[in-house]
Amino acid sequence: MTYNKDTFLIVANWKMHQSIESGRKFLKQFLSYNLESESDIVICPPFTLITSVQEQIVKTSIALGAQDCSALSPDIGAFTGDISAQMLKDLGCGYVIIGHSERRKYYNETNYTIRQKMIYAHKLGLKTILCLGESLHDRENGSFKEVLAQILAECVPTCATFDNTVIAYEPIWAIGTGKTASIEQIEDIHQFLLNVSRNLLKNTTQTFEQNVKIIYGGSVNEKNAKSILSAKNVSGLLVGGASLDPEKFYQIIRSNKQ
Ligand code: PGA
Repeated sequence: MTYNKDTFLIVANWKMHQSIESGRKFLKQFLSYNLESESDIVICPPFTLITSVQEQIVKTSIALGAQDCSALSPDIGAFTGDISAQMLKDLGCGYVIIGHSERRKYYNETNYTIRQKMIYAHKLGLKTILCLGESLHDRENGSFKEVLAQILAECVPTCATFDNTVIAYEPIWAIGTGKTASIEQIEDIHQFLLNVSRNLLKNTTQTFEQNVKIIYGGSVNEKNAKSILSAKNVSGLLVGGASLDPEKFYQIIRSNKQ
């Protein structure tokens, strides 16, 4: 079964951008657009903006997400600088991005750490957006599918289900570079990830289109979103840079309707 193409998941990853004021300005403009869309929208601001973003979106259908959570405890502990899954839940988050390639690169996150974060997030009822992607080196030497399968096998815990886990395919060479994967590459990998993840994720619900949600990220913008969303087995987008501009982000969300 393929994913219902009317209900995409569009996730904004603001990374380490926005002040309280610029975040408010963004949302004021963004919420002024007609957001009556069948896409599910998730905004993942930095931790410091979660409360102010929540105040502005609480009466809308937009969901709140975070960009990371602690691998050391699901709730509390002497872990300076960490934010737990319970704290995110407390702030109203429904989603959390886990294992972004920037976390792997700059904070040496391993598959083991990522798996632990997934377990804690699920324990608190958060939906996880598990990021994975191959480097240019993996792509060029042809080992990329093995690499992706290994990441999935090592990161996906037994508590992961079709309902609580979204897979975000983000080729590392496409993130923030202006280079997107071709439609053929995206379809090839999404089909592959669908096959692999179907064996790893439990199907505990009949409501999640009975399918795994696999979204694409990496230099998505208002110009390429439509063709990426029309690719087979693409159930949404993870958007970095272009999600910082309310007009561009709105155009991305509307792109499957145009
Ligand atoms: P980008 O980032 O859209 O700026 O390439 C995507 C991501 O890192 O999630």
